[in-house]
Amino acid sequence: MSLCLKRKSIRHFTAEPVAMPVVETLLKSAMQAPSARNQQPWAFIVIRNRQLLDTLSTMSPGAKPLARAPIAICPVIRPDMPAPKMVQQDLAAATQNILLEAVQQNLGAVWIGVCPHEDRIAFVREHLPLQVGDTPFCLIAIGHPAEDTTVTAFRYDPSRLKVID
Ligand SMILES: Cc1cc2nc3c(=O)[nH]c(=O)nc-3n(C[C@H](O)[C@H](O)[C@H](O)COP(=O)(O)O)c2cc1C
Repeated sequence: MSLCLKRKSIRHFTAEPVAMPVVETLLKSAMQAPSARNQQPWAFIVIRNRQLLDTLSTMSPGAKPLARAPIAICPVIRPDMPAPKMVQQDLAAATQNILLEAVQQNLGAVWIGVCPHEDRIAFVREHLPLQVGDTPFCLIAIGHPAEDTTVTAFRYDPSRLKVID
């Protein structure tokens, strides 16, 4: 089965740390994502500090998995890109690559929405050392799964498809 069909959001993790070489593997996949004009408008903040993860988990109701994760990655949008209207799509591609690489590494992960919610962007800016002009795109809670990783519901729906010959 493909990585895409094996991926699901994992929100509970064991206390086992995620080794830095594995984090680098996730980031290699992130930076291999396609981007408009190959502008690569990203930077990534790796958060391993327990207290900071706990603080970030209060950003929104959906951010709670961060309180159970040993590590998080914050993909960040850099300013002044040649195709600025495309940067969110570029970051989404990089984020999805991290989620898929996590499956490959037998890790679990969940995408936690930040951008374009202004209150969440401000909250993350308050707590992470972002460079001037940077915008946090999302937070990804990552760890060794402490819940069943088996995908049981498949969403393929042929009625969503129109073929034009
Ligand atoms: C833009 C975006 C924002 C999301 N935000 C959250 C979130 O804040 N908290 C959360 O637990 N899951 C979040 N998710 C994960 C979705 O809830 C999840 O992908 C969806 O329910 C489908 O489930 P699956 O990932 O297991 O297939 C988000 C996903 C996306 C793409």
